[in-house]
Amino acid sequence: MESFIQHRKGRTPRQVHRDVEDLKDDELGRYGFTGRTAHLYRRNDPTQYRAVGDLGGLDRQTYDLTPTDQIDPAGEPLLMFYNDDCRILLSRRSETAPFYTRNVDGDELIFVHAGTGHFETEFGKLAYRPGDYVYIPKGTTYRQIPEDQCHFLIIEAVEEFRVPEAGVLGRFFPFDSSLAVVPEAEAFPDDGREEYEVRFRQREGKTSIFYAFNPLDVEGWKGDNFAFTFNLSDYDVITSETVHLPPTVHLFMQATGVYVMNFLPRPAEGRKGVERLPWYHRNTDFDEIAFYHGGSVFGIDMPPGLIGHAPQGIHHGIPERARERARRRFEQDERVEWQVISIDTHKRLTPTPAMINSTHVEVQEEVQV
Ligand SMILES: [Fe+2]
Repeated sequence: MESFIQHRKGRTPRQVHRDVEDLKDDELGRYGFTGRTAHLYRRNDPTQYRAVGDLGGLDRQTYDLTPTDQIDPAGEPLLMFYNDDCRILLSRRSETAPFYTRNVDGDELIFVHAGTGHFETEFGKLAYRPGDYVYIPKGTTYRQIPEDQCHFLIIEAVEEFRVPEAGVLGRFFPFDSSLAVVPEAEAFPDDGREEYEVRFRQREGKTSIFYAFNPLDVEGWKGDNFAFTFNLSDYDVITSETVHLPPTVHLFMQATGVYVMNFLPRPAEGRKGVERLPWYHRNTDFDEIAFYHGGSVFGIDMPPGLIGHAPQGIHHGIPERARERARRRFEQDERVEWQVISIDTHKRLTPTPAMINSTHVEVQEEVQV
């Protein structure tokens, strides 16, 4: 951050996100929520606009989308959003593919919204269940063996995913890497087929390579580049009694230009006068993707499977009536029960035609993070 000087002009609450009274709390911040910031206390709800053009954002129900891998074992995930740093895809596979996959353009962080099964990888076998992240390093050959229909959000990063700096939290950082499930080495036997296709997952073009043997033939491995799973239930939640913390405190993993956060169940802020819901903002330097895994906030159910895109610069936030409702229920509500996966990208994301042309979902009182 370049400056430590803050000014205060006009009518403002004494502390951020507290005692806003009739004012509308709108944050104009740089570099997500970690840079220089201005809190603008407005007369009107800044999300009450009519948008015309291509940066208005969109909300879609992923259960309404049909990747080709849902209807054909030889199909592929559906590309939903992309930029130079990352791609976000949807997979709904229920049968094992006749080919093996190798992403030659990036790491994959696969969030399991629904479905159970396992992956066979060059590092061994990895079981998955809802709430798991499955991390597959770039260039790894694998295949998925579903037990039922999966519903996966695939976050592909061109540069490698890393754990963020723990900073002052040290070994109390919410991602305890000792809880990651690491596969045991396993060489998978041939199954009698003539050729084993390894299909490259690549950003442009198509490539397959063919082996006369099962390419998952690794007898042993050592090193610090490996596949693993990590479940949301093992992610610790950072809370504050006195202020609604910015989403970046829930940062799970990051790659160049890509930040993945977990918003998980926790006690609601307890200090009287605290605004418990995310404030209005226009995230000037990041596009935001929110994927709703489930749960509820103050009696409002989160729509499982909904995905929302808020391009940088466009105002978003919870409708004023939901804020008023949260204030009215302050004594009654003790917890936030949401489960939301949030992806911030520094470069603008482009929604694919499949997203632009699919049915818009009207998000009313649901939390727009
Ligand atoms: Fe946001």
